[in-house]
Amino acid sequence: MAKILAIACDHAGVTYKKDLIAYLTGKGYTCINLGTDTEESVDYPIYADAVCKKVTSGEADLGILICGTGIGMSIAANKHKGIRAGLCGDPESASLTRQHNNANVLCMGARILSFEKAVEITDAFLHAEFLGGRHQRRVDMLEI
Ligand code: RB5
Repeated sequence: MAKILAIACDHAGVTYKKDLIAYLTGKGYTCINLGTDTEESVDYPIYADAVCKKVTSGEADLGILICGTGIGMSIAANKHKGIRAGLCGDPESASLTRQHNNANVLCMGARILSFEKAVEITDAFLHAEFLGGRHQRRVDMLEI
């Protein structure tokens, strides 16, 4: 089970990230907080890069990225070799992106989701496992 999580956000996700770290820490996860921690406007690719580096280096098991829509973070994260970032708006997609895509980064939109929904999505992502088998072949094809 994933225990060490790298987590970051831009200015749109500061409150969700802070509350999510408190929730996850209470559940026994170790959260590596990579910022940002104020509502001063910042550039989301910087924060996506920081989380992706922690995941690809093995310092974190999985990553979580939050911006306004989750879209910018997911675009930025998916440019990293070895990163499979899933932008999720519901728990079912979050489970399936772990099970089928072996997603190692979860992206969410703080301006799109309620905090309660973001927690449900995060729980679903963290509790699901990659199924391998036919999905492994497809995931291998992503690494070109
Ligand atoms: C910031 O205003 C916003 O563009 C950003 O949080 C995100 O939604 C980008 O995809």
